[in-house]
Amino acid sequence: MRFPGFIDVHVHLREPGGAHKEDWDTGTSAALAGGFTAVLAMPNTNPPLTDDSVLQIVLAIAERKARCDYGLFFGAGSGNVDQAVRSADRVAGLKMYLDQTFGPLRLDEMLTWGEHFDKWPKHKPVAVHAESRSLAAVLFMASLYGRPIHICHVSRREEILMIRKAREKGLPVTCEVCPHHLFLTHADMDRLGPGRSEVRPRLAAQKDQDALWDNLDVIDVFATDHAPHSGAEKDGPDPPPGFPGLETAVPLFITAVHQGRLTYDDLVYRLFTRPMQIFGLESFQDTFIEVDPYSKWEIRSDQLFSKSAWTPFEGMNVQGRVRRVVIRGAEAFKDGNVLAPPGFGRNVVKF
Ligand code: DOR
Ligand code: ZN
Ligand code: ZN
Repeated sequence: MRFPGFIDVHVHLREPGGAHKEDWDTGTSAALAGGFTAVLAMPNTNPPLTDDSVLQIVLAIAERKARCDYGLFFGAGSGNVDQAVRSADRVAGLKMYLDQTFGPLRLDEMLTWGEHFDKWPKHKPVAVHAESRSLAAVLFMASLYGRPIHICHVSRREEILMIRKAREKGLPVTCEVCPHHLFLTHADMDRLGPGRSEVRPRLAAQKDQDALWDNLDVIDVFATDHAPHSGAEKDGPDPPPGFPGLETAVPLFITAVHQGRLTYDDLVYRLFTRPMQIFGLESFQDTFIEVDPYSKWEIRSDQLFSKSAWTPFEGMNVQGRVRRVVIRGAEAFKDGNVLAPPGFGRNVVKF
């Protein structure tokens, strides 16, 4: 079966500063193996991508190492509103962290949110990490400023229902949901253990997961929030939150199609059509993936390209395997082998 090249609008590739967790070579290899032809990379690197000098550094790393296509997010900080605006043309969007998670980018001051909303160009998306009450606050602030926003990784019943209500009121709000919130719950935490079940937003209750499935029509995008950390870090004394997800998402979704919970059209809409529309990305000719929808296999961490080398879906039986990925006419992945070399990937941000 052939699909357009899927786009993951939410990945963490860890360079600079965290290359032991993942780098642009291993992370984009994982993307290809997972059926993604383009990824949008988050700015909570070390140093974070909150000024022009770091933007230059990450653009150079991506140009040299990316095996699939890519775009970057600029990180909203408390003193970088003008810097962000000056860099806006070169990035896919602005990312605002409104709750505590991995890295230093949390913005506590609501007036700072307002300054970014005021000045960031209207045609470029603002993506927010905003859970629960932070979500209510940011929806209100965005409506005061007439600012379209994209809500990352919606995980709770109250959140998806709030977004439904906001949309009914005509607010320009889009949202994404991650595979781990659609396929895992509190009930998986014992199996995963304390460190390996840490993720932000946290794994939620069954009622939250049910609400995501019941409100599928409100979900614009499926995104992995691929957030690799090493096994040693996850098992250590202060485990960082995050799950790798690039290589497991598409097989999990195809399995859900077999179970009658999704259709193939649902997948194409949320992994290609809406990502392209919301982020206004460059589309390339002859870019597609081929999937064997009937191949049955067991998810195993020793088969992953991601440097993090573990998965919260270990041992799950899935049906559906990515066979071949073609980008701009070139075979980038085939039958378990990554063929695109480092530096093959192009920036999909329209300049
Ligand atoms: O679990 C998470 N990990 N949530 C985030 O928001 C950040 C991410 C990371 O960068 O590790
Ligand atoms: Zn987040
Ligand atoms: Zn994230």
